[in-house]
Amino acid sequence: MLLTRIVEQVERTAAVVKGLSQFAAGKTPYRVATDVVQVVRHAMGLISLDLRARQVSIDVESDTDLPRLDVDPIQIEQIIVNLTRNSLDALQESTVGQREIVIGIHRDGDSAVDISVADSGPGIPESCFEQVFNPFVTTKEEGLGMGLAISRTIAEANGGRLFVAHERGGNTVFHLKLPLQIGETPIP
Ligand SMILES: Nc1ncnc2c1ncn2[C@@H]1O[C@H](COP(=O)(O)OP(=O)(O)O)[C@@H](O)[C@H]1O
Ligand SMILES: [Mg+2]
Repeated sequence: MLLTRIVEQVERTAAVVKGLSQFAAGKTPYRVATDVVQVVRHAMGLISLDLRARQVSIDVESDTDLPRLDVDPIQIEQIIVNLTRNSLDALQESTVGQREIVIGIHRDGDSAVDISVADSGPGIPESCFEQVFNPFVTTKEEGLGMGLAISRTIAEANGGRLFVAHERGGNTVFHLKLPLQIGETPIP
């Protein structure tokens, strides 16, 4: 049946693009001792024009004694840029209240650092909350739906995890958890 064939084609295309994105994202990470606060600041520099144009303020809150992490700084920066751009898009849609993005960089127990990106936008529609990390899932007219899929692939290639949580007050917060090595020394 024609419809079955179309579905098969679409599924195959999805698999190919998923592979492509993993290739694009998954160039073996070049892991070096990385100051993730610096990485976040650098990412902010990359999108500073967008921030100003859209009248959005970003607040970066970080612990002071974070150790360096064994990750690829460029890849981690790519995740931060993707998440922040999504927040900017979300804030574009909200007409009420202040437009704010908060990035937190905090130690998470003995084994990880948590980088969170939260915005005061409308949140992810309930209907696609479970799917947002799948390729091609987008609610935007011009969206590709690849940003989160690629970002999760990169996070995992760096030994980390990327997920989204509903938090108090209904805000949507993305968390990137990156592993700490035992016995690491704090950044001076
Ligand atoms: N901060 C956010 N607030 C609300 N929805 C979000 C946010 N980040 C992602 N989403 C939802 O997840 C979808 C997928 O995001 P993404 O993979 O980056 O693709 P794209 O940005 O091209 O749509 C978005 O279309 C949007 O519906
Ligand atoms: Mg996106």
